[in-house]
Amino acid sequence: MKPETSRMFILSSLCLAFYCLCTADKFYNSGNHEWKKLIMVHHWPTTVCKEIENDCRDPPNYWTIHGLWPDKASECNRSWHFDLDEIKDLLPDMKHFWPDVIHPSPNRSQFWKHEWEKHGTCAAQLDSLNSQKKYFSKCLEFYKDIDLNSILLKLGIEPEISYYQIEDIKNALVSVYGVEPKLQCLPPEEEEEIQILGQIEFCFTKDLQLINCTDPKIKRYLEKKCSNRLEFMKKHEVLPG
Ligand SMILES: *[C@@H]1O[C@H](CO)[C@@H](O)[C@H](O)[C@H]1NC(C)=O
Ligand SMILES: *[C@@H]1O[C@H](CO)[C@@H](O)[C@H](O)[C@H]1NC(C)=O
Ligand SMILES: *[C@@H]1O[C@H](CO)[C@@H](O)[C@H](O)[C@H]1NC(C)=O
Repeated sequence: MKPETSRMFILSSLCLAFYCLCTADKFYNSGNHEWKKLIMVHHWPTTVCKEIENDCRDPPNYWTIHGLWPDKASECNRSWHFDLDEIKDLLPDMKHFWPDVIHPSPNRSQFWKHEWEKHGTCAAQLDSLNSQKKYFSKCLEFYKDIDLNSILLKLGIEPEISYYQIEDIKNALVSVYGVEPKLQCLPPEEEEEIQILGQIEFCFTKDLQLINCTDPKIKRYLEKKCSNRLEFMKKHEVLPG
């Protein structure tokens, strides 16, 4: 532990398992566009890069937005195309808080297009989210209200400091938000007992009120994914340059 603490570490993130889940959902739900809650997903950029084994240049050193997802529906309207013009006013915030960490060139809007077409078109069933402007603004608003980066800092949960118990992080977040978020982790590497934290998710009702993400029925499965024989979250060393 000692030599490690003197080095610069960073949290890292998951997605693969999650993408698989979403794909399964999509298959299961084809033709059924009903959903119950919204999931506001933050990801840790360095982990995204690690997961896809991509040398992202200079990923942000803070939690950024992955998306705002209805829990059980995707691609609800294939003729409702993404229109960057509609969110022109939001671009400065979008670039900062919702960057495409994998393709960081300044004008890329591929990631936003994907999020809109897959998730936004379903979220748009709500009057409060029934345009691209409303969908992206609301997500930015959630992000700023949740203020995850400052809260984690205040809680002393920082990538450079040490290893953490998943439960400790979860409990700390519950103490601040009053609801249980969902943590997503990268699978452990080989024999390591340490897992890398990738995503932190907050759940909302259709009235846009925060609620627990954990559903007692699926809780066991989710916990298995994040902590089964892997009690800690790994810091990922920052590469020089
Ligand atoms: C799909 O989106 C298009 C374009 O916004 C809209 O005209 C159409 O009514 C939508 N269809 C449904 C079923 O909501
Ligand atoms: C990138 O966007 C800026 C304004 O946001 C624009 O002036 C520039 O022409 C765009 N570049 C490309 C290659 O599209
Ligand atoms: C939400 O989770 C917290 C922390 O686990 C728990 O105390 C609370 O009872 C839960 N609320 C509901 C409505 O289930």
